[in-house]
Amino acid sequence: MSGRSRHRSALVPRAVPPKVSASLRAYAELAEAVHSPVMLLGPQGEILAANLAMRERLGGRVAATLRECAAEYDAALGGRYDRHASVTVARDCQGQPADETVHLVPFEGGACISVEDRTRLAALESAHAQTTRLASLGFMVAGVCHEVSNPLAAVSSMLQILQSRRGVTPETLDKGLASIAGNIARVLAITRKLGDFSRVGAQGPIPLAIDDAMSEAIMLLRHSAWGGAVRVEYRGAAGSRALACPGQLQQVLFNILLNAAQAMHGTGCIEAEARSGPGARLRIEVRDHGPGIAPEAMPHVFEPFFTTKRSGEGTGLGLAISSEIVHEMGGRISIECPAHGGACVIVELPGYEA
Ligand SMILES: Nc1ncnc2c1ncn2[C@@H]1O[C@H](COP(=O)(O)OP(=O)(O)OP(=O)(O)O)[C@@H](O)[C@H]1O
Ligand SMILES: [Mg+2]
Repeated sequence: MSGRSRHRSALVPRAVPPKVSASLRAYAELAEAVHSPVMLLGPQGEILAANLAMRERLGGRVAATLRECAAEYDAALGGRYDRHASVTVARDCQGQPADETVHLVPFEGGACISVEDRTRLAALESAHAQTTRLASLGFMVAGVCHEVSNPLAAVSSMLQILQSRRGVTPETLDKGLASIAGNIARVLAITRKLGDFSRVGAQGPIPLAIDDAMSEAIMLLRHSAWGGAVRVEYRGAAGSRALACPGQLQQVLFNILLNAAQAMHGTGCIEAEARSGPGARLRIEVRDHGPGIAPEAMPHVFEPFFTTKRSGEGTGLGLAISSEIVHEMGGRISIECPAHGGACVIVELPGYEA
C-alpha cells in the first residue's frame, strides 16, 4: 500500500451532507495531489479534509475543527471562513520557527485553506540567487583566464630576460621589475574583485538605509587613491530603505562613485541624489562632469572586462559586478550621457517598507 493511500482515511469527510460530500470528495482527491498543505473547512471551521502535506505540517494533529488543531491559523483569520483572506502566521512548526502565509478561499458550503511556507521560500530564493551568481561567475571564467594569462605571460617573459642576465643594465632591471610589479598588481586586482563577488554573504538581505550605504561608499572613495580632491554633494532620502545584503549595496555605490571620480581625473564635484519613486522604488542618481562615454563604448560598459582605462587603472569588472548585484536585488542599473556633458548612472531598487 502506498504512503498516500495509507493516509487516505483522513480525507474522507465525516458528518457532511450527502449532496456536498460528492463534490467535496472530488476536491479532497484533488487537494491530495497537491504538494502544498491544503485543507477544506465547513462553514464553522470544521475540518472536512486535509491533504498529506497539511497533516504533516500540523504534526499529524488533525482534530475536528481548525481552532482545535491550528489555533494560530484560526486566530489570524479572526475565526471567519466566509471571505477571501491572506494572513501571515509565525509559529513553531515541529520544533522549528516558521513564517507562513495562510490563504483562505471561501466556496459554497465551506472554504479552502492553503499554507505557504515563507521560511522555506526564503531559503530557496537565497539558494537560487547563489546559483545565479555562480552561473554568472562561470560565464566570467573564460574572460578571467584570458585576462589573467596575459599579465602572467608578460611576467614570465620578463623573468626569462632578467634571468638570462644578457644586456641587463640597472635601467632595464628597474623597468623589468616595474613591469612585473604592474602585471602582478593587475592579476591581484582581478582576483580580489572576483573574490568579493563570489563570496556568499554571511547575512542575507536586510532593510538598509540608503543614506547610510551612500555615506559609507563616500567614505571609501575619500580613502581611495582617487577621492582625495573630489567633492561629493549628496542629497539623501532620509528614512528610505532597500532590502539588500550589507556590503553589497555599498560596493555598488562605491564602484559608481569611483568611476565618476576617475572620469574627472580625481578632482571636481560628483552630484548624487536618492529619492523614493513610484511603486515604492528607490532611485539613486550619480552625476559627474567627466568626458562622458563614447557612443561606440556605451553598449559594452556592463560587460565583464570592458575597460577604456589604462593598464593598472581598471579591470573592467566594476559595472559588470554592480549590475549583477543590482539585478539580484530586483533592481535596475543604467547609464546615460546628458547632452550638457558628463555621465549619469541611475540605480533603481525595490524599496523596503516595514
Ligand atoms: N562615470 C563614467 N564616465 C565615463 N566613463 C565611464 C564612467 N563609468 C564607467 N565608464 C566606462 O565604462 C567602463 C567600464 O567601467 P567599469 O567600472 O566596469 O570598469 P573600470 O572602471 O574600467 O575598471 P574597474 O571598475 O574594474 O576597476 C570604463 O572603463 C569606462 O570606459
Ligand atoms: Mg570602475
